[in-house]
Amino acid sequence: MIGRAPGKLIVLGEHSVVYGHRAIAAAVSRGTTVTLEPCAGPTCLGRAPIRDDRLMQAIRAVVPDHGLRVHIDTDLPVGRGMGSSASLSIALLRAVAALRDERPDFRTLHAQGFELERIFHGNPSGLDHAVAALGGALVYRRQEPPTPVTMASLQAVVLDTGVAGDTAALVAGVASRRPAIDGALDRLGELVERALPVLSDPPALGALFNEAHAALRQIGVSTDTLDQLVELALCNGAVGAKLSGAGGGGVVLALTPEGPEALLRAAQRRGIAAFACSLPPSAAPEP
Ligand code: MEV
Repeated sequence: MIGRAPGKLIVLGEHSVVYGHRAIAAAVSRGTTVTLEPCAGPTCLGRAPIRDDRLMQAIRAVVPDHGLRVHIDTDLPVGRGMGSSASLSIALLRAVAALRDERPDFRTLHAQGFELERIFHGNPSGLDHAVAALGGALVYRRQEPPTPVTMASLQAVVLDTGVAGDTAALVAGVASRRPAIDGALDRLGELVERALPVLSDPPALGALFNEAHAALRQIGVSTDTLDQLVELALCNGAVGAKLSGAGGGGVVLALTPEGPEALLRAAQRRGIAAFACSLPPSAAPEP
């Protein structure tokens, strides 16, 4: 039995979404496939990109405890703010549902996904697994149903710091710096509202990206490497760039409406891992 789900990139609104503001996020054309293979004896882990307690706990929470080998295949970088754990959670739930010949609706998947994301992230907003379950692009506010957004695909480049950020620790760090940083969290929420009417206007959206990155620095989730990658993007054709996801490492999302080539070449010269992508992908991901 097989379950699949895409990863995601947050366009705007990471961290402020934890405190009730809206966020905009889109699926990417990379994701996770979970395969459940029958085997004798207790359920065990087969192929997997990581092996840790949190993963084993998530598997034990939803997979029958006997007779299955769980294989996890993903082309998402783990811990880079691209929703690898949410993609895994939803793919796992879809594989288990397929085993029972069920096709869970979004509400069921989102509620069950929330419990799994709590194992990985402690206090998740629900945004990551909403995108993993729905695909496409959406606007999300905690405890409300997500609203799909119709937008032309944005041409973007993702620059990878090569360092994993720990989402649970970063979200807890932001909580510990409140209320001093509440102004910056509110600004991140306002940027989402200003972005919604200009989603198809890359220069206008790019300017909001730059403001968002400054606010993300203020709440303490950027790093020197992330700031340098933003600079590199802005000097090589991007109209805006910001960290995307929890920060502390992870990736920078740069808007490149004139094409990704100049930035990809600049990244390659410096040995920085980078790839071009469309947000949301033009071909719809797995439902
Ligand atoms: C992580 O991809 C996004 C955060 O806003 C946390 C969350 O929404 O659960 C940092």
